[in-house]
Amino acid sequence: MSNPISVFSFPTRIVFGPGARRELGAEAKRLGIARPLLVTDAGVVACGIAEQVLSEARRAGLNPTLFAGVDPNPVEKNVQEGLEAYRLAHCDGVIGLGGGSPLDAAKAIRLVAIHPFPLEQYDDQLDGAAKIRGGLPPMIAIATTAGTGSEVGRSTVIILKSTERKTVIFSSHLMPNVALADPELTLGMPPKITAGTGLDALTHNVEAYLARGYHPLCDAIALQGARLALRNLPRAVHNGKDLEARSNMLMAAMMGAVAFQKGLGAVHSLAHPLSSIANLHHGTVNGILLPHVLEFNRQVSEDRLRDLAMAMEIQTSDRPAAESAAALVTRMRELLEEVEIPPTLGKLGVTAEMIPLLAKKAMEDACHQSNPRACTESDMVALYAKAL
Ligand SMILES: [Fe+2]
Repeated sequence: MSNPISVFSFPTRIVFGPGARRELGAEAKRLGIARPLLVTDAGVVACGIAEQVLSEARRAGLNPTLFAGVDPNPVEKNVQEGLEAYRLAHCDGVIGLGGGSPLDAAKAIRLVAIHPFPLEQYDDQLDGAAKIRGGLPPMIAIATTAGTGSEVGRSTVIILKSTERKTVIFSSHLMPNVALADPELTLGMPPKITAGTGLDALTHNVEAYLARGYHPLCDAIALQGARLALRNLPRAVHNGKDLEARSNMLMAAMMGAVAFQKGLGAVHSLAHPLSSIANLHHGTVNGILLPHVLEFNRQVSEDRLRDLAMAMEIQTSDRPAAESAAALVTRMRELLEEVEIPPTLGKLGVTAEMIPLLAKKAMEDACHQSNPRACTESDMVALYAKAL
């Protein structure tokens, strides 16, 4: 512990359980929202969930406006267009509905409702949080995937116009006022998306537990979140209607996001450029990279890897740390096969020629700063090459 004074904060209100979406009216009323902007994407509209939530809002006497123009990896233009819709309809609050992308876009829209563009001035790496004040319009977050946990998180990731880089904006003011966590909304997720988003949730818990820093509260949440994710992800992938597995995955996703206020690690730094440059699915590439980074971290994190192996019931306490750490890495590789995710980046179209640029961008990403083992650019090159 380098600093004897620590600040711990877990203030998210979570309304959790099958049917939680029907609390929308009551929660909106509590927050003084009458004219919400419903921020979502084309996929959520196409599967009928946007209409379900719009009808629920209307039934509760709200006057919602739909904005479904969020890209799979949200860009600054989506935020600009969302703000225009918000102003045009004289909205007084935001409902984010969908996976991480619409939820992140919704957070950024409420940010620019009272802050000027461009978004680059709020970049967390440039101390942007200092420019973010309170008093944002209220926000209700409704997740339709169990992955990013953005519904309980205080950050948003947007690809900026100026740098084309996935950029993290981080402020406690960005945290939604309430997360309506309804596992029934995740029942229709196809196996591939279930697997990809679930691997993101698992990676958040694992990287948060391994991250540098003193945070026993987050550590405890991360261990249980990792355990829930490993036990329930294969079930949710193979039987999408398994409400218990879906509920546990939704909880594991929120636990991962709560835990990673402690920090993430090299998996996320390697994954971010694969989305912004190669447009690959974030959680899927996390899952592919995770065993390689765990192997890389082994020499400094054996004891923590053993804790994870024990919490996830991969090994028991009477095994040597080295053996438990190895078993964890192996189990993560097997999991990919179980949830039918290809084991290499090459299978997703990544080539050796792309690695130098990817590695440069991975170094620019802040997540690896809390990785338990320090990373150089040549480490990043080697990790991409191993995962190729
Ligand atoms: Fe993630």
